[in-house]
Amino acid sequence: VNSEKKQMLEAHELLQKFYHHLLVNTKEGQNALEYLVDRGFTLDSIEKFQIGYSLPSWDFVVKLLQKRGFSLSLMEKAGLIIQKENSDSYFDRFRNRIMFPIQNSKGETIAFAGRSIEKEDQPKYLNSPETELFNKSNVLYNFFRAKSFIKKQQQAILFEGFADVISADKAELYNGIATMGTSLTEQHVQLIRRMTDTIIICYDSDFAGTEAAYRAANMLTDHHCQIRIARMPEGFDPDEYIKKYGSEKFRQEIIAGSLTFMAFKMEYHRLGKKLQNEGEKLRYIEKIIEEITNLDKAVERDHYLRQLADEFSISLDALKQQQQQMYYAKK
Ligand code: UTP
Ligand code: MN
Ligand code: MN
Ligand code: MN
Ligand code: MN
Repeated sequence: VNSEKKQMLEAHELLQKFYHHLLVNTKEGQNALEYLVDRGFTLDSIEKFQIGYSLPSWDFVVKLLQKRGFSLSLMEKAGLIIQKENSDSYFDRFRNRIMFPIQNSKGETIAFAGRSIEKEDQPKYLNSPETELFNKSNVLYNFFRAKSFIKKQQQAILFEGFADVISADKAELYNGIATMGTSLTEQHVQLIRRMTDTIIICYDSDFAGTEAAYRAANMLTDHHCQIRIARMPEGFDPDEYIKKYGSEKFRQEIIAGSLTFMAFKMEYHRLGKKLQNEGEKLRYIEKIIEEITNLDKAVERDHYLRQLADEFSISLDALKQQQQQMYYAKK
């Protein structure tokens, strides 16, 4: 490690400790701590994930880093402070936010995400910029803690965000990782593939999460992964679900009850469609037959064709015929 990188890492470590201390031990952090506890974060989780709090100050971090002998221009490169335009003075990037440290695969803190406490404070999450240490497209939140569990259990659970991973951990699911809002990249997939090829996608059950789950599922399938997709009631994310229904129900119903990709597609393709409308129903059925035709295994094709036949009271023969037609049309 060159010495610039080393200093950047040291600064992250120092700030992580400070932010955490401010959250758990000081009057300044009390409001933020109450916010977290209200949301269902336990003190154990706050400790384990080293969650912190950044003061509303414009220069607390600048002064601290300066006092500890760090070069401010280097700290700007590390994304921790920002240089004022046309000036050689700096101000703190993260102010009055809940701080989530982000670690690389070795467990070194390389970035932060700061969550706003007040609704008016946008964006909801302010992240470290891309730096020499941090590249969002090859970092998965919690990977360094989860990797041994992922390997042992031969399964990873892929979430969208911080709170989802931390709530899952509270529910004793230690194999959770998150993409932190970006879409899944090739590099993320390579990282996971080193530990397992079995992944449960557990994105938010809202429109954006459903679309992202569909894309992630296709990508992982292209990379020869075995996937399932966990679905919650409309609008819930995993963290909210666990808060409302508890860990046990999350594990038993949402994770254990996760869908195969085909079952998810059957749900996905009917979103926004009015299946009581004859035309839409027929188009839906055709779409599903097309998807079934793409399945590799005859047993699976048979299973889903039967399911489709049952649901829409169509003869299995007719479905099979249509499927054959589609199959040969494709060849
Ligand atoms: P969500 O909007 O689902 O947020 O974005 P969340 O995780 O449920 O957040 P809480 O529960 O309200 O605190 C999913 C993830 O996308 C990234 C974060 O990593 C977040 O956890 N994100 C979201 C950002 O980077 N910036 C944003 O402004 C919003
Ligand atoms: Mn502590
Ligand atoms: Mn979301
Ligand atoms: Mn969410
Ligand atoms: Mn959430």
